Amino acid sequence: MKALLLAGGLGTRLRPLTENLPKPMALIGNRPWLEHLILHLKSEGIADFVIAVKHYPEMIRDYLGDGTSLGVRIQYAVEETLLGTAGAIKNAQEFLDDRFLVVNADIVHQVAIQPLLDFHLEHGGAVTIGLTEVKDPSQYGVVEQDPFGQIVRFVEKPSKEEAPSNRINAGIYVMEKTVLEWIPKGEEVSIERETFPLLIEKGMRVYGKVIDGYWLDMGTKERYRKVHWDLLERKFRLPLGGKEEENGIWIGENTKIGSGVLFVPPVLIGNRVKIGDRSVIGPYAVIGDHCEIGQNVRCSETIMWNRCRVHNATQLKNCIFGYDLELGSKHILYEAVMNRWAGGLQG
Ligand code: GDD
Ligand code: MG
Repeated sequence: MKALLLAGGLGTRLRPLTENLPKPMALIGNRPWLEHLILHLKSEGIADFVIAVKHYPEMIRDYLGDGTSLGVRIQYAVEETLLGTAGAIKNAQEFLDDRFLVVNADIVHQVAIQPLLDFHLEHGGAVTIGLTEVKDPSQYGVVEQDPFGQIVRFVEKPSKEEAPSNRINAGIYVMEKTVLEWIPKGEEVSIERETFPLLIEKGMRVYGKVIDGYWLDMGTKERYRKVHWDLLERKFRLPLGGKEEENGIWIGENTKIGSGVLFVPPVLIGNRVKIGDRSVIGPYAVIGDHCEIGQNVRCSETIMWNRCRVHNATQLKNCIFGYDLELGSKHILYEAVMNRWAGGLQG
């Protein structure tokens, strides 16, 4: 079965990190999430991918190419204009087989796909939507089901009071290609606001099946941080590179650590990082490859992408920094989220 990864959104809630980056290319544990996602789905038996791209498509293509380096095949369905989630699926029509998997590429997850496929085949619906349960469903697509799992109502981002349940669309579907007949070509169409409600209204069978395993949409800054703290707390696992020196302290290769440096776990330090004397790193710090941290720096609850430089005696708390940023000495930054316009992906 092919997987269609929806990766073309603007990622507005993760700006400024996504000003010049497709959201699924945001680093998770020092690697673009999209790469982790493909490797996860490969481990679930999927070898063929179509990526629906629009926002900075060349960044995804340059990084993943035709998939050979990951041992999979990747094709690209490029949108000229934003077509929305259903429009993006329609636009990928020529690459898709009779039945396929659709995944919102910003969902950090380790969900088993086979049970979803088995359920879909047993029930014979047009779509089977993977569902998860959350406390506040108002940020998501919410479903109401009958006792057999068939979805009788799908409401995208209802108010808390109007939400029919706390079961939400997890952004992972098995879909029959016949569904594409209900999506107009070349128009902006939302699968959540238009297509799912239409299919239900027309009596096409849409099912929901609760999925197991770690799941979090990384699409806001709060959730982007939470994914990292969950990773460091081992609520789910990804290949983290480097080795774990002691409980909760991961250090990459060729990293140079000055004298008197204190790591307060959990922390993840990338490859070829330099950390100056007496700096205190953690708790909750993720430092990308090639970063240079000066002396007497304090860095906690902070995620820093590759090649950042932090000068002496600067204090960082609850920050997120994109690629290649340089921070002066003796700055105090709390809750800063920064990006550099000309950020690159290499290294
Ligand atoms: N190619 C393409 N074109 N991709 C798009 C487009 C588009 O026009 N619009 C959005 N996407 C991609 C995004 O890049 C993202 O990976 C995915 O589709 C979902 O879009 P989001 O903008 O992240 O949607 P959301 O998080 O608010 O809501 C969606 O996900 C929830 C689960 O986290 C919906 O599917 C909800 O129903 C769902 O509960
Ligand atoms: Mg999302």
